[in-house]
Amino acid sequence: MTKVLHIDSSLFSGEGVSSLLAGRYVARLREQDPTIEVLHRDLAADPIPHLDLKRLQAIGTPEAERTPEQRAIAAEADQLIAELQEADLLVLGVPMYNFAVPSQLKAWIDHVARAGVTFRYTADGPVGLLEGKRVVIVTSRGGFHRGQETDTQIDHIRTTLGLLGLTEIEVIYAEGLNLGEEQRAASIRKATEALQRLAAA
Ligand SMILES: Cc1cc2nc3c(=O)[nH]c(=O)nc-3n(C[C@H](O)[C@H](O)[C@H](O)COP(=O)(O)O)c2cc1C
Repeated sequence: MTKVLHIDSSLFSGEGVSSLLAGRYVARLREQDPTIEVLHRDLAADPIPHLDLKRLQAIGTPEAERTPEQRAIAAEADQLIAELQEADLLVLGVPMYNFAVPSQLKAWIDHVARAGVTFRYTADGPVGLLEGKRVVIVTSRGGFHRGQETDTQIDHIRTTLGLLGLTEIEVIYAEGLNLGEEQRAASIRKATEALQRLAAA
């Protein structure tokens, strides 16, 4: 059975364009295969705290030496990694905020990228420990950035997920969303069609 980890990061939760589109894609997958198992995380409704020193130290402290508070923090971080390890497909709804991913999603990335668990260092450089997973990213933007210098967002996600071994990545763009109603509707329609084609592939 296919396991899907679906993560939305729009500040507008389910109302965000990225969330709506990612949700449509997952719904289409479900129509095609009702047996798929979907775990949905809405990082705006249920935020992951930013990785501060307290959290970093809790995760880095050997299990037997952790305080109760550190155990709770480490368990939360372990749970995020387990969800990713178990997934066959990762679906990310990702708005562009200030040319980057939402800080809510960055907090998730900071918790799942863990040396010795999701990647390891070798003499030849880091090696990802998560294999055989596909990733679908739905990115929504107010303007147009694809293929331009201002698109620092997708390179960042590709590099960080690549570090973990997630290299099979499809990106669907919904751009120009704040450039008038007509443009917005056309971009959403185009992205929906691209996602339907992807789901059927
Ligand atoms: C805090 C903030 C920062 C934004 N920064 C950018 C940006 O750098 N480039 C851009 O094209 N649009 C930017 N936008 C517009 C959003 O990308 C756009 O509204 C998109 O539809 C948001 O996706 P969502 O509806 O899934 O939240 C920004 C919006 C917000 C709220």
